[in-house]
Amino acid sequence: MGERDEVCDDAVPELSGESVGEDHDSSSPFFVSKKAAAVLKHEILKQYVVPFASKVGRYAPDGRVVYLDSYAGPGRYEDGTPGSPALILESAARVAAFRQLDCYFVERGRKNFRSLAQLVAEAHEQGLAAHALQGRAEKHLESVLSRAQGAPLFAFLDPFGLGLSFDALTRQIFGTRTERGATGRPATEVLLNFNANAVRRIGGLLTSGKDTPNKPAILSAMDTACGGTWWRDVYLASSDNPEAVARITQGFVERVRTAVGSGAAAIEVRNRAHHQVAYHLVLFSRHRDGLWLFGEAASLAQVEWRRAQLPPSNDEMLWSPADTFDDEEVQRATKWVRTIRSNIENLLKARGSFTVDDHQSEIMAGVLGEAREKHIRAAVKELYKAGTTNCNGVGTIRRFRITAAVSEPSR
Ligand SMILES: C[S@@+](CC[C@H](N)C(=O)[O-])C[C@H]1O[C@@H](n2cnc3c(N)ncnc32)[C@H](O)[C@@H]1O
Repeated sequence: MGERDEVCDDAVPELSGESVGEDHDSSSPFFVSKKAAAVLKHEILKQYVVPFASKVGRYAPDGRVVYLDSYAGPGRYEDGTPGSPALILESAARVAAFRQLDCYFVERGRKNFRSLAQLVAEAHEQGLAAHALQGRAEKHLESVLSRAQGAPLFAFLDPFGLGLSFDALTRQIFGTRTERGATGRPATEVLLNFNANAVRRIGGLLTSGKDTPNKPAILSAMDTACGGTWWRDVYLASSDNPEAVARITQGFVERVRTAVGSGAAAIEVRNRAHHQVAYHLVLFSRHRDGLWLFGEAASLAQVEWRRAQLPPSNDEMLWSPADTFDDEEVQRATKWVRTIRSNIENLLKARGSFTVDDHQSEIMAGVLGEAREKHIRAAVKELYKAGTTNCNGVGTIRRFRITAAVSEPSR
C-alpha cells in the first residue's frame, strides 16, 4: 500500500460496547452545530422517510411503520438545528393523519440521551409514538425487532465509527424478517453510514510500526463489522487511501447484498467538495421502489449540500457565489442529461428496447445519487427529438418503454 492521505475528519471507530479513543462523546463539540456532511444525510432522511412510510405503510396493520435510529445522538444540535431524531419526528407528525411512524431512538451517551429523552417527551405531548432507549445499539436491537414484527421497518445506522456487526445486520435485522413486499407483508430497509475514516484509521494499523494499544482488538472489531478479514488484504493491496476506501466499501456492500438478497445504492459524503470522503451512505433495500426513491432523495439532498457550501454573503461583496448557484446547477444538469442520454443510447444498441424500471442502474451509471427522474425525462425527450427513440418522455418515467425509433411514434 502506498502513501496515505491526511485524515481531515475526526470520526473514530467504535467497538461494540467499548470505544476506541472516541472523541465524539456526550461532551463533544460535534453536536454544537451541523457540518455540511450532516446536511446531506439529514436531507436524505427528510426526503426518504415520508414517501417510504406512506408507501409501505399501505400494507401494514393500522398503517404502522417502525423507524429505528440506533445511534441517535442528542436529537437536536445545541443551536436548535434538528438532528436525525428531531427530523424524523417532524416526518412522523407530517404523516400522522394516515400512518403511525413508531420511532425507536437508541443512544449510549448519557448527556446525549438526556437531550434525546426530552425531545421524545415533547413528541409524546404531540401524540406521536416515540421511544428513547439508553444504552448500546446491540443491546436494544432484539427487542426493537420484536416490536417491529409484522410491520415495515426502516433502520438508520449512523455511528461515528464502526457500527453493528455484519452478523447483526445480515442475520438479525434482515435474516429474521421475511420479506414479502407489496403483497401486504413488511418491507425492511437499512440506511447505513459506512465510515471511511474508520477504514483509513484501522487500515493504517496494518502497516503502522507503532505500538498502538488494543491493536488486535481494533482490527478484530473491523473484521466483525465487515464480516471477515477479507478487508485486510484489500487494504494492503490498494495503492492509496481513496482506493482502499472505495474497494472496502464496495466489498462490504456486495457482501451484505449477497447475504440478504437485496439491492443497494451508495453515495459518497464529504464535508466539502475538495475533502476526502467522510463516509458512504448505503441503502439496502429489496425493492426497486426503495432504490428509486433513494436516488431521488439523494439527488435532492445533494442540491442542499451544495447550497450549504456557499460562503455567507456580505454586503461589501460586489459579487456573491450565491448569484451563480442556479447557473452552476443548470450546467451540472446539462452534463447529467448528456451522461444519461449516452447510457440510454448504449442500452438501445445492446437491447433494442427496454423498460426504464428494469435498467435503473445502467441508465444512471456515473450520475447515481446526483441526477434524478427529471434528468432521465429530459434525456429521453432529447432522444425523441433527435429521432433516436419513439418514446416521447411523457408519462410515468419508470414505466417508459424505450425503443429505437421506427416510422410510427408510439407515444
Ligand atoms: C454520528 S452520531 C449520531 C448522529 C445522529 N444520527 C444525527 O444524525 O443527528 C453517533 C451517536 O451514537 C452514539 N453511540 C456511540 N456508540 C453507540 C452504541 N454502541 N450504541 C448506541 N449509541 C452509540 C454516540 O454517543 C453518538 O451520539
